[in-house]
Amino acid sequence: MFLAGALARSTKTVFRPIAALTFKPTNTLRPITTSTKLYKEDKRSSLPSHIDPNDTTHEGQFSRTDNKVSIEYPEEHDLPPSVPVQGRGAIHFKRTLSSFSLEGRSCVVTGGARGLGLVMSQACVISGADVALVDLNKEEGQRQADQLMQHFHDENPGAENVPKVTSHYADVANPESVNAALAEIIKDHGKIDHLVTSAGFTENFDAITYPFDRVKKLWGVNVDGTYLFATGVARHLMERKAQGSMVMIGSMSGAVVNVPQPQAPYNAAKAAIRHLASSLAVEWAHAGIRVNVISPGYMLTALTKKILDDNPELYKHWTSLIPVGKMGEPEDLMGAVTYLLSDASGYVTGADLRVDGGYTVT
Ligand SMILES: NC(=O)c1ccc[n+]([C@@H]2O[C@H](COP(=O)([O-])OP(=O)(O)OC[C@H]3O[C@@H](n4cnc5c(N)ncnc54)[C@H](O)[C@@H]3O)[C@@H](O)[C@H]2O)c1
Repeated sequence: MFLAGALARSTKTVFRPIAALTFKPTNTLRPITTSTKLYKEDKRSSLPSHIDPNDTTHEGQFSRTDNKVSIEYPEEHDLPPSVPVQGRGAIHFKRTLSSFSLEGRSCVVTGGARGLGLVMSQACVISGADVALVDLNKEEGQRQADQLMQHFHDENPGAENVPKVTSHYADVANPESVNAALAEIIKDHGKIDHLVTSAGFTENFDAITYPFDRVKKLWGVNVDGTYLFATGVARHLMERKAQGSMVMIGSMSGAVVNVPQPQAPYNAAKAAIRHLASSLAVEWAHAGIRVNVISPGYMLTALTKKILDDNPELYKHWTSLIPVGKMGEPEDLMGAVTYLLSDASGYVTGADLRVDGGYTVT
């Protein structure tokens, strides 16, 4: 269920000022209360003449979270299915670098049954790779795997090298489930060369009232899930003495606090993913394993479309803050993921590639 914009919570609790309880001025410290007052008076007196110093309603209004925006991640049966991108996979004769090809490679994509994970899986297939879709919803993954294969056949009639696309169940936050899925993938595909971790979700509650079991679930899927799959695939690559590369899906929310929706645990999770990727990039550089991050901005997946249909004001607010003036299409990640997985990015590791229409540079 979406709780779209519904839960205006009153916060009438009166807090005692912490400073009054704990701050004891000494001879060596300038009393903070005095300097704060002076600063405020100085600032007010230097306002442009047409500004009413008593009108504070506009202050900070474009850079604050709004606790009225409350959106819960839907249950599995409420998640809308995604549609694969059409008409991008045919053989073409435009010159491009062969180092972008993923031919002969085997890629694992978590969260591959829907949204960004599905589109990035399709980019891998189009670039010549075999792909293992991993998701909580194995049936939806299988349906999409069949569709990806069908698209490939439609767009490449008579092709000799046909990619293999498989679907696997895993709860990415559960170590046993992750290990079982990796063993199944290695059995089916013979090896793993690349990983994309797209299983993850966001939801919006203000930090004070966010149910803590949901916070733990969010961190479990986004952070533990990324860590477990990354270490599992790295272990396999090192056992094979093979090089490889991984792309972790972070978010612009790992670098900036985007508004107005409150989502502190999600932002913290995505910041963790960025630094996890940097740390693993250093730790595994000796083994030829590269680890990079893609940080998408607001992307129009089936799920975000549904959320924005219910919250038209949110759509206006979001697009007003994106320099290019529009949300991204999931397809906008196809080139980014292919570049970071392939040999074209051979000297790139520990990087964070923002695909956000310029959101984080303003
Ligand atoms: N859509 C955006 O605007 C956007 C922006 C920035 C970052 N992201 C990130 O991109 C990633 C993908 O998001 P999306 O928009 O495609 O979401 P989505 O909900 O459309 O797809 C996520 C997929 O992950 C799967 N999943 C969820 N929990 C799982 C678990 N425990 N184990 C295995 N699979 C699980 C879901 O079943 C679903 O198929 C997420 O990490 C998200 O935070 C999305």
